[in-house]
Amino acid sequence: MNKEAISDYPLHDLIKRRWSPRAFSKKSVEPEKLRSLLEAARWAPSSGNEQPWRFIVTRKDEDEAFELLRACLNEGNQAWAKNVPVLMLSIAKMFRGDDVTRPNRTALYDVGLSVGNLVIQATALGLHVHQMGGFDAQKARQTFQIPAHFEPIAAIAVGYLGDPAQLDEKLREREIAPRERKPLRELIFTEKWGESSSIIEK
Ligand SMILES: Cc1cc2nc3c(=O)[nH]c(=O)nc-3n(C[C@H](O)[C@H](O)[C@H](O)COP(=O)(O)O)c2cc1C
Repeated sequence: MNKEAISDYPLHDLIKRRWSPRAFSKKSVEPEKLRSLLEAARWAPSSGNEQPWRFIVTRKDEDEAFELLRACLNEGNQAWAKNVPVLMLSIAKMFRGDDVTRPNRTALYDVGLSVGNLVIQATALGLHVHQMGGFDAQKARQTFQIPAHFEPIAAIAVGYLGDPAQLDEKLREREIAPRERKPLRELIFTEKWGESSSIIEK
């Protein structure tokens, strides 16, 4: 099964190889690797160096909180996430400094950057990551006592690749399907919105 990005232009191997599986191995993630992932997240850039990212980290074998977090996922995600050894929740601090009345307009962007770092570090360590917007944010807020002005953003599964045979037929098909992207010409503009930039050749 080759899930590498079929790119129009050269890519770094870590970007090429990253993808979001649903079939995870039961093998647990070494604590030192997990710490490296979180360290990579910590070293992301952020507006004003606000570092608005927070993470709840739960390990299937170690933490009772794992099942509490899994219970916050929507049904579809819960089904495949049962084998995942690590489940996290990314949370954004939505204000600047100590002043909850000063909104941080880039908080979500910064949290995304930090998870981007985490994902690349995970790929370098032979791990896979699957992020999920499909979870009950209100339930997560209550379960983990997340304060007001902090927003749960995404659940994040981390682990080693598993056998697609463990998935039901529909998910198995998606698991082995080639990955798709919009063409760059639909995304990159210069003078006029919607008109492709000349830097893009096709
Ligand atoms: C913020 C975010 C939320 C996502 N939510 C879900 C989700 O709830 N369930 C799911 O199965 N995949 C989810 N995904 C995974 C995407 O579907 C996946 O990244 C996309 O299809 C591209 O595939 P690739 O990551 O393998 O390149 C999410 C990804 C991101 C970044």
